Amino acid sequence: MRPDPREKAKINAGRKAAEMVEDGMVLGLGTGSTTHHFMVQLAERIRKEGIRIAGVPTSLQTEIRARALSIPLTTLDDCPCPDLAVDGADQIDPGFRLVKGRGAALTREKVVAAASAGIIIIAGEEKLVERLSGTVPVEVIPFAVTPVMRALERLGGTPSIREGKEKDGPVITDNGNYIVDCAFPEIPDPPGLEEEITALPGVLECGLFCRYAKKTRVLAGRADGCRVVKKRPVQEI
Ligand code: A5P
Repeated sequence: MRPDPREKAKINAGRKAAEMVEDGMVLGLGTGSTTHHFMVQLAERIRKEGIRIAGVPTSLQTEIRARALSIPLTTLDDCPCPDLAVDGADQIDPGFRLVKGRGAALTREKVVAAASAGIIIIAGEEKLVERLSGTVPVEVIPFAVTPVMRALERLGGTPSIREGKEKDGPVITDNGNYIVDCAFPEIPDPPGLEEEITALPGVLECGLFCRYAKKTRVLAGRADGCRVVKKRPVQEI
């Protein structure tokens, strides 16, 4: 069966990112379907060209997939400053601020993004938005979930604990915590909201990624190719 246009867009973005990897790099390996396509292409380059890389996986899913593809793995303990993190996103604004966390891997993704010298975000074009909006995933330790949800309401959000699919009860992250999906009618100040949410006791991290725009490049895939996105000033509300 032929991949649908959205899938093709992800494949094209993943391929372009794999072409940008240099021999000897330590890579942050993000999580999700677009990153998976990147890893497939990366594995191909390792096999055919013999490039040597080591990857820091940001989730159990990525670790399992990387092992299946024979991509060499390492850890932040051995390689605390990866050269490049390659990851997907749920929303990307013109200034390269992001919403992430559909796959519940946001905390490790943020740790790797912060530690890496550069970041490449790969996504289909539909992920490019003029303004970040809607649901912000928040990783919360179970002990703190009720006070955190009340505090998120005070910040103007509507929080709900993410439920598992094919598993009754809450999603448990790779770190043993809950994901609270918090819907906001609008997000006029993404960096301010990120600071407010992450300052709540019991919150591990949230899916707003506003601090890494300077070192981020964005590759937007389409069914027939992929382009490097030019950063633009964000129109404030
Ligand atoms: C994982 O928690 C997420 O941050 C993903 O990186 C993000 O949702 C993008 O996923 P896809 O590439 O599957 O759209």
